[in-house]
Amino acid sequence: ASANIGVVGLAVMGSNLARNLASREGNTVAIFNRSYEKTQSLLDAHPEAGFAPAQTYQEFADSLQKPRTAIIMVKAGGPTDAVIDSLVEVFEPGDIIVDGGNAYFPDTIRREKAVRETGINFVGAGISGGEEGALLGPSIMPGGSDESWVTLGPILKSIAAVAEGEPCVTHVGHDGAGHFVKMVHNGIEYADMQLIAEAYDLIRRGTGKTPAEIAEIFAEWNRGELESYLIEITAEVLRQVDASTGEPLVDVILDQAGAKGTGAWTVQTALALGVPVSGIAEATFARSLSSHPEQRAVAGALPGPDEAFTVADPDAFIEDVRLALYASKIVAYSQGFDEIRAGAAEYDWNIDLGAISKIWRGGCIIRAQFLNRIADAYAAEPALPVLLTAPYFTEAITRAQAAWRRVVVAAAQAGIPAPAFSSSLSYYDGIRADRLPAALVQGQRDFFGAHTYKRIDKPGTFHTQWSGDRTEIEAEDTH
Ligand code: 6PG
Repeated sequence: ASANIGVVGLAVMGSNLARNLASREGNTVAIFNRSYEKTQSLLDAHPEAGFAPAQTYQEFADSLQKPRTAIIMVKAGGPTDAVIDSLVEVFEPGDIIVDGGNAYFPDTIRREKAVRETGINFVGAGISGGEEGALLGPSIMPGGSDESWVTLGPILKSIAAVAEGEPCVTHVGHDGAGHFVKMVHNGIEYADMQLIAEAYDLIRRGTGKTPAEIAEIFAEWNRGELESYLIEITAEVLRQVDASTGEPLVDVILDQAGAKGTGAWTVQTALALGVPVSGIAEATFARSLSSHPEQRAVAGALPGPDEAFTVADPDAFIEDVRLALYASKIVAYSQGFDEIRAGAAEYDWNIDLGAISKIWRGGCIIRAQFLNRIADAYAAEPALPVLLTAPYFTEAITRAQAAWRRVVVAAAQAGIPAPAFSSSLSYYDGIRADRLPAALVQGQRDFFGAHTYKRIDKPGTFHTQWSGDRTEIEAEDTH
């Protein structure tokens, strides 16, 4: 046994992770793939990595030092289950199986429970950063037992991205906690991307600037408080010219956004937990809306506003959009952290929200300057109920809100869809409201279903006899 870590599944993410592991002092990496050709081509392409190749699961297990530690990088779902079953057959109690894919966290909870019964540790680990991150340093969100973290922690720290001198990995919590947090990371990623897309669309349609010109605006924004990987790559995408037509590439790409499911999981889970992640939900639905060409074709005849959309002062409008983007981004992250807080309470995970914001500062897709501010907020007040209310964010929104409102008004008047901007603003106005019309909804519920209500002036549960003499009676809250 010569290897201290193994990788199963050698598609791009797996190969890159294996190469990353091999490049770090002290690691020897065993590799296995269902078809041996992939193993052979990785060996041929990277002799310097000193991989220990295996042709069978048994050989793979034999090549690993105890406790054996293997990271699975295969498709989520059935393929992952198949690999886990094969590893369980050749591994022993105390060994560690890590699923590094984008698994749905209830699957991870189920697998962890089943594998634990054999005495083997199972760790669901979210890995973010795409192909490049896997190779050079991802952000890693492992769940699983404390016992597995003892062995796994140093290995993952050796390959993770580094931000402000700290590796972007932490033991998130038990069983499915890591995949839960990765899921929410992706939900925030959806919101971030949609907000950027709406900002681009409004600027383009309001000022007539070209994609290349807007690329410069994003590049400029990337030097300020919006500095982030997604803003940076947006500038790159907007600059790209299509080789075959000479048009901006963004104009040649079909406007139907795909999705592999993590955004939808974030929203489904939030619905079940009762957490209003409206920005993430709108971002997810915006992709769905874009991907129904048959509906969009027939709906093309629906009228929009009469006047053309032009802004009087383009520079002022662009600054308004920047501020609206920043304020909406704060809302999206606040909602995402709210979901993690609620998930931790529901599933009994001890998740340190400040530590999560820190491991997202490097390596992952949503890495941003801004995450330092979130880390500061949780350092100052670990039990912060809503991120928005941390002084830094309240100040930022105070600064941005007039612009934010102007942008949402402009979008509505111009007939330009801005679902993430406007739902974030609605959330903000909802959460800060002294009173909400929810009182009326309670009245309606009590009217048709005797669902009862509570009063502001005395304790207890009440029902009005709407169909009778409309007197109020004290009610048992049984509905
Ligand atoms: C990451 C990404 C990664 C992947 C998503 C894309 O953190 O590295 O989120 O996980 O790119 O699966 O998701 P969609 O295909 O749903 O956009």
